Amino acid sequence: MNLLEVKDVEKTYPDGTRALRGVTLSVRAGEMVAVMGPSGSGKSTLLHILGLLDRATKGTYRFKGQRTEAFDGATLAHLRNAGIGFVFQLFNLIANFSVEENVQLPLYYSQVPEREWRTRAHEMLERVGLMHKRNQYPNKLSGGERQRAAIARALVTHPEIILADEPTGNLDSATGAQVMALFQMLHREGKTIVLITHDPTIAAYAERVVHLRDGVVAREAMHRAAAPHTPTP
Ligand SMILES: Nc1ncnc2c1ncn2[C@@H]1O[C@H](COP(=O)(O)OP(=O)(O)O)[C@@H](O)[C@H]1O
Ligand SMILES: [Mg+2]
Repeated sequence: MNLLEVKDVEKTYPDGTRALRGVTLSVRAGEMVAVMGPSGSGKSTLLHILGLLDRATKGTYRFKGQRTEAFDGATLAHLRNAGIGFVFQLFNLIANFSVEENVQLPLYYSQVPEREWRTRAHEMLERVGLMHKRNQYPNKLSGGERQRAAIARALVTHPEIILADEPTGNLDSATGAQVMALFQMLHREGKTIVLITHDPTIAAYAERVVHLRDGVVAREAMHRAAAPHTPTP
C-alpha cells in the first residue's frame, strides 16, 4: 500500500521561486527512502509537503489514501501530530526545557492522557540510551546526544512515519552512524522513513534513493529491495 503519494506536485513560493516543478513519488508502508540532491533542489520543500507542514501549489498529495488538498489546518495538524515524527538537522530542541521535557512536548498537543506522558517519554529515552541525561538541558549534551533526544521526541507519539531532514548533517561520521543505527532499528520495526541526506553512506541505509534536481526527480535507484542492510564503509 502506498502510504504517501505525491503526483505532479509543484511548489511555487509567494516570491515566485519554483522549488518543485512536477514531482511524482510514492512511499510504501514500511519503506525507508533516502532523498538526495544538490542544495536548493527542493528536498526540504518536498519533505515539508510530505509532512503536511506546507501545501503543494499544484498536483495532488494522498496521505494514507486520502486526498489532502481540501483538508483544513486543524485536520492537517491532527494528522501530523498523530502520524508523523520529524527530525531536523539542527535538532530544534528547546534550550530551557530539560531533555525529558523536550521529549514530552509533542504529547502536549496529542490525545495521549497526561498521566501517560512520563512513561512514554521514559520509554523513548531508554530506547535512545538517554535516560541518564533526562534532567539535563540540551546545551549540556553532545551533538549525537541532542539528535538522539530529538529522535526520542519524534517517536514519543508512536508515529507510523518518520521524516528526517539531514539528521546527520551536523554530526561526525561515527556519531552519524549511531544515529543511523537507530533509524535502521525503527525501520526493522516497520516504521516508514523518509530521510534527506547529502551523504551517500547515509543514503546506503535506505532501500531506495530518490535524486532530486531543480525541483524534479532526476532518477531513482533501488538498493537491496527486501531487508535493510548495514552498508560497508
Ligand atoms: N520559504 C521559502 N520562500 C521562498 N523560497 C524558498 C523558501 N524555502 C525554500 N525556498 C527556495 O526553494 C528552493 C528549494 O529549496 P529547498 O527545498 O530548501 O532545497 P534543499 O532542501 O534541496 O536545499 C531554493 O531555491 C530555496 O531558496
Ligand atoms: Mg534542505
